[in-house]
Amino acid sequence: MRFLTAGESHGPCLVGIVEGFPGGVPIDVEGINSDLARRQQGYGRGGRMAIERDQVEILTGLVNGETIGSPITLRIVNRDYPNWAGKEHPPITLPRPGHGDFAGSVKYRLSDTRLVAERGSARDTAMRVAVGSLARQLLKGFGIESGVHVVKIGGAALEERAVPFALLAQAESSPVRCVDKKASQAMLEEIDKARADGDTLGGIFEVQVKGVPVGLGSHAHWDRRLDGKLAWALMSIPGIKGVEIGDGFACAGRRGSQVHDELFYEPGKGYYRTTNRAGGIEGGMSNGEILVVRAAMKPIPTLQKPLRTVDIRSHEPGLASVQRSDTCAVPAAAVVGEMAILTVIAQEFLAVFGGDSLKEIEERWHRFQ
Ligand SMILES: Cc1cc2nc3c(=O)[nH]c(=O)nc-3n(C[C@H](O)[C@H](O)[C@H](O)COP(=O)(O)O)c2cc1C
Repeated sequence: MRFLTAGESHGPCLVGIVEGFPGGVPIDVEGINSDLARRQQGYGRGGRMAIERDQVEILTGLVNGETIGSPITLRIVNRDYPNWAGKEHPPITLPRPGHGDFAGSVKYRLSDTRLVAERGSARDTAMRVAVGSLARQLLKGFGIESGVHVVKIGGAALEERAVPFALLAQAESSPVRCVDKKASQAMLEEIDKARADGDTLGGIFEVQVKGVPVGLGSHAHWDRRLDGKLAWALMSIPGIKGVEIGDGFACAGRRGSQVHDELFYEPGKGYYRTTNRAGGIEGGMSNGEILVVRAAMKPIPTLQKPLRTVDIRSHEPGLASVQRSDTCAVPAAAVVGEMAILTVIAQEFLAVFGGDSLKEIEERWHRFQ
């Protein structure tokens, strides 16, 4: 399964084509819309999110609510487009530090950084969510489920490191997608303070996936490693600067006896572990434990109190352009991250239990159980 996305932030629509999705999978379009709505929520978002109410249309590949094995075309209309089209938009020549504005205008020989931002903005992540939501519907039938929560925004962090999968649903009712009320409150206050100062914030989110069978990915070749693929998927989300699998960076300062998860076996129960510091991956393969992956997001680069920059036409010093923008988008990025991970899990699941129809996958899956 592979996919392409296209569309500009203020263009008429976003488009996605998913190829290699098996036939015979029932798809609930409203389920995709509710994941799109999850991406749009979150305290700290800017004016755009009040305008957009993303709804997906499936243009191809779906007949009577079931996939038929042919490419699935998804479209999300940009509701902001009519407010934008046909109006004069003076060129922006003051690149925002932290965005692709500078490098993109040099690389593509563009004298208006807006033309870079149109595609480089995170608007495209709506389509990443729609694609991941399709993957979620395929995986759910095989007992593979996910959750996501925010563990840090600016200086406000969740105290406990290990949050059980069953608790993650609580994050859905928090405006900052955090499972703990006290930490949520501290995060809200951090966002308010940053906004009042004309500044922005980043943070950390954690995705967990339950029910992943043993053996997705492979130790056999570098580009088949599951950890590598997950890190790539997360790092491809605008603003993500770090990825951690399991205890990640903390492992570097501990002894092996405090890092590796011992293996046990009991008849009737099978193999089991009492710890999951590896985050469900060993040797580039899923090991049957819950997958635990964290990503760090840098602060939003559009500051209302702008940073110093240089005009790309005159080379005179100036202040970065100020545009309508989020103060903090970590709760939204968390949903994008969750869907990016489900997309990779679905790809790897199909590679093992593959492919053409749901029936065929189910037969192989039952043989594996
Ligand atoms: C869901 C989401 C929403 C975002 N909203 C904004 C925004 O409103 N303004 C902004 O300047 N950056 C926003 N960003 C971050 C930028 O897209 C990102 O920092 C930029 O593309 C540069 O990051 P990079 O260096 O990792 O590519 C958002 C990111 C995500 C994932």
